[in-house]
Amino acid sequence: MRSLISILELSVEELDQLITTAKDIIDHPEKYWDCCKHKKLATLFFEPSTRTRLSFEAAMLELGGTVLGFSEASSSSASKGESVADTAKIVSCYADIIAMRHPREGAPFVASQAASIPVINAGDGGHNHPTQTLADLLTISRELGRLDNLTIGLCGDLKYGRTVHSLIEATSRYTGVKFVLISPKELKIPGFIRYNVLEKHQVPYIETTSLEEAMPQLDVLYMTRIQQERFEDPCEYERLKDSYILNTDKMQLAKEKMCVMHPLPRVNEISIKVDDDPRAAYFRQALNGKYMRMALILKLLEEAKNPTKVAFDTTGLVSDKICSNPKCISAVEQELPHLSRITDAAENIHRCIYCEQRV
Ligand code: CP
Repeated sequence: MRSLISILELSVEELDQLITTAKDIIDHPEKYWDCCKHKKLATLFFEPSTRTRLSFEAAMLELGGTVLGFSEASSSSASKGESVADTAKIVSCYADIIAMRHPREGAPFVASQAASIPVINAGDGGHNHPTQTLADLLTISRELGRLDNLTIGLCGDLKYGRTVHSLIEATSRYTGVKFVLISPKELKIPGFIRYNVLEKHQVPYIETTSLEEAMPQLDVLYMTRIQQERFEDPCEYERLKDSYILNTDKMQLAKEKMCVMHPLPRVNEISIKVDDDPRAAYFRQALNGKYMRMALILKLLEEAKNPTKVAFDTTGLVSDKICSNPKCISAVEQELPHLSRITDAAENIHRCIYCEQRV
C-alpha cells in the first residue's frame, strides 16, 4: 500500500506528473467531478490547521468524494490514550485514505505501517510536510515557468519549519538549484537536511543572517514563521520572533521576476503592504495546495486499486539505540521498537527511523 510520508518517496518524474495533473484539473475541473465518487477521506488532525485540513477536504469534495475525521486530538480517543497505530487500524475500517497531522515527529509513518489504506503525512511536528511541498512546486512552476536553475532563499525558522525541510528535499533534485539559507544562528537547518540532503548530494548552499544581502540574487524567497509552538523556552521565542520582516523597502532589492512564498499562517514576518506586489504569491500558493492534493489523492487511490506490498527497508537498521528527541513519537508510545538506521557508515552516524534525529 503506497502512502506519502516523505516527499523523497516521490521521484522527480512523479512530482512532474502530479504538477501536470494539477494543471489539467485547473483547466478542466469538470473532468474530475466524479473521480472519487463513493470514496472517503479521513482527516485526522491532532494539531491545528486551516489550509491543509480544509484544502484536503475541499480537494476530496471536488473529486466527488466525502470526508470524515476530527480537527483536534481532544475529540478523538487519543485523549483516552489510544495509540497512533490503533487509530490508523480503526480508521482503515471506515475510510479509503487518511490525511494525518500530528505534533509528534514520525507519527504518520507509524500510522502508515499499521493502516490498510494509504496515509498522507499532513505535517509531523518540526519534521516534514510533503503536501505543502507539492503546493510549493506547483506555485514555482506556475509563477516562474520552471523548477530548475533557481536560486531559492529560505528565510526564518529553518530548524523547526517542517515545510522548509520537505522543500529542500524536493527542489534539490532538480538541475541547477542553489539555496541561500537565511536564519538566526539558533534556527539553522537541522542535520538530517544538512548532511543527508545538501552535503550528501553536493547541492550548493550558503548560510547568512542577512535577508537584505540575499535579496538581489533570489528567484524565490520562501518566508517562514518562527514556530512558537516548537520552542522549549518561551524567552528564546520572544527574542527571535521578529528576526525577519519582509517589507516594501526590502522588496525593492529583489529581482523584477521573482516570487515571494510563505506556507502561512504568517504572524508578522511579511508586511501586509507586500500583498499588493505582483511577486507576492502566497495566497495563490494556498490555492495551489488544493489542486496538488486533488492530484495526490487521485494517484494514491488509483495505486491502491492494485496494491503492491511496499517492503519496509531494513538496510542498516539497528535496535540498540534510544532516540532522545522529546518530540519523537517513540518518546511517548512506549511499545514502538527503538529503531535507527546507519546513514553514514564512515562516521558511524545513526538516525531514528521515526524523526530522523541523530541517536
Ligand atoms: N501551511 C500550512 O500547513 O497551514 P495550516 O497549518 O493552516 O494547515
